[in-house]
Amino acid sequence: MPRIIETRQLTPVTKFFRIDAPLIAASARPGQFVMLRVREGGERIPITIADYDREAGTLSLVVQEVGATTKRVCALEAGDEILDVAGPLGGHIDIPPGGHVCGIGGGFGSAALLCLMREFTARGDRTTAILGARSKDLLILADELRPLSHNVEVCTDDGSAGFKGFVTQRLAQIIDGDAPGRPDHVIAIGPMAMMRAVAETTRGPKVKTLVSMDPLMVDGTGMCGGCRVNVGGKAKFACVDGPCFDAHEVDFDVAMRRNKAYVREEKRALDRLACMTNREAR
Ligand SMILES: Cc1cc2nc3c(=O)[nH]c(=O)nc-3n(C[C@H](O)[C@H](O)[C@H](O)COP(=O)(O)OP(=O)(O)OC[C@H]3O[C@@H](n4cnc5c(N)ncnc54)[C@H](O)[C@@H]3O)c2cc1C
Ligand code: FES
Repeated sequence: MPRIIETRQLTPVTKFFRIDAPLIAASARPGQFVMLRVREGGERIPITIADYDREAGTLSLVVQEVGATTKRVCALEAGDEILDVAGPLGGHIDIPPGGHVCGIGGGFGSAALLCLMREFTARGDRTTAILGARSKDLLILADELRPLSHNVEVCTDDGSAGFKGFVTQRLAQIIDGDAPGRPDHVIAIGPMAMMRAVAETTRGPKVKTLVSMDPLMVDGTGMCGGCRVNVGGKAKFACVDGPCFDAHEVDFDVAMRRNKAYVREEKRALDRLACMTNREAR
């Protein structure tokens, strides 16, 4: 069972984990994910590989509490073990070298930019990371990304840090010629609404754009069909065909509808966890 080596609370609901997983670290690439499970009989959840250190044999993950399973993960501390971690899963981000790559992160999506920026900067690309959050206290990993990218842009809705406005407004300025200049590739990872807005921002100016889709997943291996997304009019499975797809081909209406399909069941699971926690506390 992979042991947790280090944890760090990034925001009240977002936690950083470094775990001992040498076999996964040895072959992980930017854009891939793992499926993890914290208890026997519990569900497996997909979590993006934020970074990896092949020499140390460790993986970095960032988990945001949204429901019962992510709450259970975020309750773990250094020294605890995770029941199972399977991966690396999905395809890696594969774009030609030598261009200006702009990674856009929102929420836990900013974490995936760590290995992305590190690898693309190392191979000689020009790299820009644009991080978005509602306010400064919800912003994550900006300091960690600075040594890994040529340029880090911070955007907050309320102007409490960096550019006041959405990541898409700053991206539009950069595409229009603001420093550091028009990107050749944009990669957006974060909430679906943000990825959709990025797709619309880059569609007109024809900037190649990838989005990392996060549909509901069950097995993560292409067997169950749960993670179906419509891309270019065809059904694709995010766990094996993705999770990154051409943003201008993704049907976000369908994807957003499908992600809301089990809201009632998810609320019940969260209520059950709260009952169990209350009982244990008594
Ligand atoms: C490829 C991939 C990579 C991911 N990477 C990360 C990551 O690095 N860090 C992280 O914190 N989360 C990540 N997620 C999302 C994470 O898997 C879900 O938040 C988790 O499965 C929710 O489980 P839960 O039981 O805690 O909440 P649930 O009870 O299942 O859901 C609670 C709420 O979250 C919403 N939700 C559930 N699953 C998703 C989803 N896949 N995308 C968007 N909203 C969802 C539900 O609609 C509901 O509103 C990723 C998802 C995918 C598919
Ligand atoms: S999660 Fe089952 S097919 Fe993708």
